[in-house]
Amino acid sequence: MAKQTYLAALLLAASASPIMAQIRVIQTSPEMQDPLRGPIISNPLKIDGPTDVMPLLKSQPAGDDRYQPQVGQDGKDVIWVPTPDGLIKAMLTVAQVTPRDMVVDLGSGDGRIAIAAARDFGARAHGIEYNPDMVMLALRSAVKEGVGTKVTFETADIFQTDFSRATVVTLYLLPSLNLKLRDTLLKMKPGTRIVSHAFDMAEWTPDQTILTDDATGFFWVVPANAAGRWAFEIGNERFVTTLTQRFQMLDADQGSPIVDGRLRGTAIRLNRANGSSLQGDVSGNMMVGPGWMATRIRSAE
Ligand SMILES: C[S@@+](CC[C@H](N)C(=O)[O-])C[C@H]1O[C@@H](n2cnc3c(N)ncnc32)[C@H](O)[C@@H]1O
Repeated sequence: MAKQTYLAALLLAASASPIMAQIRVIQTSPEMQDPLRGPIISNPLKIDGPTDVMPLLKSQPAGDDRYQPQVGQDGKDVIWVPTPDGLIKAMLTVAQVTPRDMVVDLGSGDGRIAIAAARDFGARAHGIEYNPDMVMLALRSAVKEGVGTKVTFETADIFQTDFSRATVVTLYLLPSLNLKLRDTLLKMKPGTRIVSHAFDMAEWTPDQTILTDDATGFFWVVPANAAGRWAFEIGNERFVTTLTQRFQMLDADQGSPIVDGRLRGTAIRLNRANGSSLQGDVSGNMMVGPGWMATRIRSAE
């Protein structure tokens, strides 16, 4: 595991403090309030932080009297560095976590994300962590934080564990590990929210970027499948067009009355050649919106 890759993340984590890590919602212009993108939660990113990180690393509150993990300690595929509290709050806020959610943190470390999801957002939460000492520490912390009945942890390898019941997945891993998980994440139920600290998913561009004073996160909503040939009915207008899909982005065939589009879970927006747009919802082989519908007549190969 390349520790060097983690230098930036370590620096960011090192400068974490609950006081610094506040978020604010920036008012967005009408075009930025696109329902498929949502508001941007942002703070100016300040990375010109400390050069000597060790005093700050040591000041990270972690562990209890039975086990004191060391920031930067080895993990199976990636070292342990905790996500700053401010970014945890921002990540779970952007993901709109509610008591109806099951939040799963992949590589849960000392359990702080799962515990925050239960304690501050009322969700059920689960952490998957390879290091059994970290799992025991996380379980003790969950009890101390009063969420012992809402949070579970398991000692397991995230690449060998089924987490498909999650409605929200959080991760702080490495770019290569995000890519290794990408197909599995894309096969999750459309609408599942994914939030990653520090690292993106390459060509699967984020639906939203989260910036706090000291760290960056990326947010995606698993898109529905809208690829294939569709028969549209818009008022009296009828036409057939083929949509190609790359992650959440859609393109229509040349000369079609539809130009392109975008998915956010099952919510779809299609931009028309005449400058207007269609908003609706994808459900199986149907798309329906106010005044329009489409039926899938052929799936993509
Ligand atoms: C950077 S830390 C993130 C901890 C926590 N998610 C957070 O954000 O505060 C990554 C964690 O993943 C764990 N880990 C590494 N490889 C793993 C694997 N294959 N399966 C489960 N956990 C793993 C490490 O032990 C470490 O605790």
